[in-house]
Amino acid sequence: MKSTKTLILNGQLQKDIEVASELLSNDKIVSFCTETVYGLGAWGFSEKAINKIFKAKNRPKCNPLIFHVANIASAKKLFFHENCKNKDVIENRFTLLAHSFWPGPLTIVSFKSNKVPLLATANSAKVAVRIPSHLVAQKLLNTVKKPLVAPSANASNRPSPTCAKHVLATLDGKIDAVLDGGICQRGLESTVVDITQKCPIILRLGAISFEQIKAILPNIKVKNGGKKLKNEHASPGMLKKHYSPEIDSITLLPSSEMLKFWHTKTALLMLNNSAKKLKKELGIRKYKSPIETLPDDPLLYAKELYAAFYRLENHNATKLIIEKPALNLKNTDDWQAILDRLKRASSKNN
Ligand code: TXA
Ligand code: MG
Repeated sequence: MKSTKTLILNGQLQKDIEVASELLSNDKIVSFCTETVYGLGAWGFSEKAINKIFKAKNRPKCNPLIFHVANIASAKKLFFHENCKNKDVIENRFTLLAHSFWPGPLTIVSFKSNKVPLLATANSAKVAVRIPSHLVAQKLLNTVKKPLVAPSANASNRPSPTCAKHVLATLDGKIDAVLDGGICQRGLESTVVDITQKCPIILRLGAISFEQIKAILPNIKVKNGGKKLKNEHASPGMLKKHYSPEIDSITLLPSSEMLKFWHTKTALLMLNNSAKKLKKELGIRKYKSPIETLPDDPLLYAKELYAAFYRLENHNATKLIIEKPALNLKNTDDWQAILDRLKRASSKNN
């Protein structure tokens, strides 16, 4: 792709929001901050703009894009339920989820209206939609007054960016602008829920936890192991190694087993407390391995995880050992989506 200079816009300034909005209305692609991760936005009804997203990210066309809208009325226009046998059930689920979690990090998948281009949904009859809560995303959507498709703003198979610098790390020169809104509050992608099945199903675990959704939809299920079910359009982001730093070998181990890898070529990603304990046990002052530590609290851990992945790439290590957070009955729900990402990062199936 021809390299153009990527414009850096300040998400705090209304005039910059207007510049971003103008670019998007002219089929340009602009990354913007959301509460989960940075998205790479394009006007969702423009095939020309959508094609630019697939190209810039080097994303396979079989991986559908999420629509971002400003409010529930705009979201409803992207769906079509008139011909559905279980129309009432689907619409009831939609209302419950939308009123409980929007604006916020939940993506709802249901049958699409004819207006939604098949290019955006990867030929699926269903469309994924969310209303982001971040002020910059809200301002942009309210100014542009168009639905925007926005996958995470990273080259395909790289970690999602949680700050403007990490957008530029993989997409500089390939996108028209980035609307900088600082560091994303959540750091983990939205939870994707398909409401059209017999039971509603979580296609991708994310920033809204399983238990939070179960409290609203008690028969919710989590899609098993990311395997593609017959007649179902899976979330392709769930199918293979994903969300991982570019390091040859990545292994997930409990902290007790990390000691073996305490030499210079292996990078370690640990929880703060475990790293402190290990250092104390070993009686050392300095770490020998390149090490990154993350907060023990799952919400803070999630917020910093992808930034740590990008930093770890700078250590030039060929191996990375990631500490598998120890779960107990009380905290499993909070760690579930993070564990999913860590397992995918360390998956050999690329
Ligand atoms: O938090 C997020 O969801 C971020 C921000 C920018 O909103 N976006 C994001 O987009 O993570 P992306 O493209 O990186 O991941 C979207 C996921 C993929 O796993 C994709 O396959 C799935 O949502 N998806 C999108 N449209 C779908 C559809 N029509 N049916 C099933 N899955 C869909
Ligand atoms: Mg992504």
